[in-house]
Amino acid sequence: MIKNTPPMGWNSWNTFGANINEQLIFDTADKMVETGLLELGYEYLVIDDCWSLKERDETGRLVANPQKFPHGMKAVADYVHSKGLKFGMYSCDGNLTCAGYPGSFEHEFIDAKTFAEWGVDFLKYDYCYHSKIIHGKYLYRRMGLALKNCGRDILFSACTWGTDNTAKWIRETGANMWRSTGDILDTWDSVRKLTEQQDAILPYGGAGSFNDMDMLTVGMFGKGNVGVGGCTAVEYKTQFALWCLFGTPLMLGCDVRTLDGEMLTLLKHPALIAINQDEECRGPVYIGSDNNYNTYARLLSGNRIAIGMFNFHDHERNIFFFTRDLGMTAGCGYHLEGKDVFTGAPISQDRDYVECCLPSHDCAVYL
Ligand code: GLA
Repeated sequence: MIKNTPPMGWNSWNTFGANINEQLIFDTADKMVETGLLELGYEYLVIDDCWSLKERDETGRLVANPQKFPHGMKAVADYVHSKGLKFGMYSCDGNLTCAGYPGSFEHEFIDAKTFAEWGVDFLKYDYCYHSKIIHGKYLYRRMGLALKNCGRDILFSACTWGTDNTAKWIRETGANMWRSTGDILDTWDSVRKLTEQQDAILPYGGAGSFNDMDMLTVGMFGKGNVGVGGCTAVEYKTQFALWCLFGTPLMLGCDVRTLDGEMLTLLKHPALIAINQDEECRGPVYIGSDNNYNTYARLLSGNRIAIGMFNFHDHERNIFFFTRDLGMTAGCGYHLEGKDVFTGAPISQDRDYVECCLPSHDCAVYL
């Protein structure tokens, strides 16, 4: 059964790029259990691009690169499953994947069947090298249908980077999640841009087909495939809070084999994960900005509200959240009560606004 809340797990691309192999996957699977990440919901372990040979076999099937995966993909899936995790793989709607390996164009049904036979539970489906004459929506419908008929529950993770008005047609293809923006880099600027690009499409996410802001870079500190520069611990805190508040899938991109201390604690933050996984799956409401700070509110189950205040400025400043934008006018006779999930500091409402002072790139999330 595929859950109806934002998918959670790990993906190889951000840190490892093409440098993937069986041992890395086994060790990562072990760590996802040992660190308690699986217990908190990070259940999918996904191998991204560069896993196959450059040619299909004589029957037209994809072949795992035997140097990287000497025991074949079924064995990898079996190991991942033996740990209680689910197994994910990658393909593309074009002739080639983004890194130049065979894509699934005109092989959608045979590939879906192959993935099912190997024990795949999740397919990330990319958008490179695709037909110039067939609109992407038809190619995604094809693979969506192929997956529905492959005999196994396989979560369909679309990766069209928001192009061709993705938000308007992707849900109907059967995609359970869909990348709404370009590739993340491990920099503050990238996180800021991905966040700002969400404003126009916030209403299109939601239960069953989640808007995916890309794999997290939290904990990478500049190391690995997209690790150009790195972020500070505070910036990772803000990134994780944004992804949680926005209800975007939580796919880790760091090396979990070396993940510990502050970053592991952050990624396991129970209150933030609970916001992300809230059963009502509502999106956040964009409340306000002066171009460099953003405030969002999100209705949660149990008549609760999550409020996020983000300081995108390069210096400390006071951030304001106007409760009237939430529907709570100054004269309505009610006020907010709650605490910051990080510090426990109570929310303080004065007339129709909440004010808090935040260091540069920091955030507060009130429940
Ligand atoms: C695209 C995707 C990335 C990654 C690479 C692999 O750029 O957006 O997430 O899958 O392809 O080549």
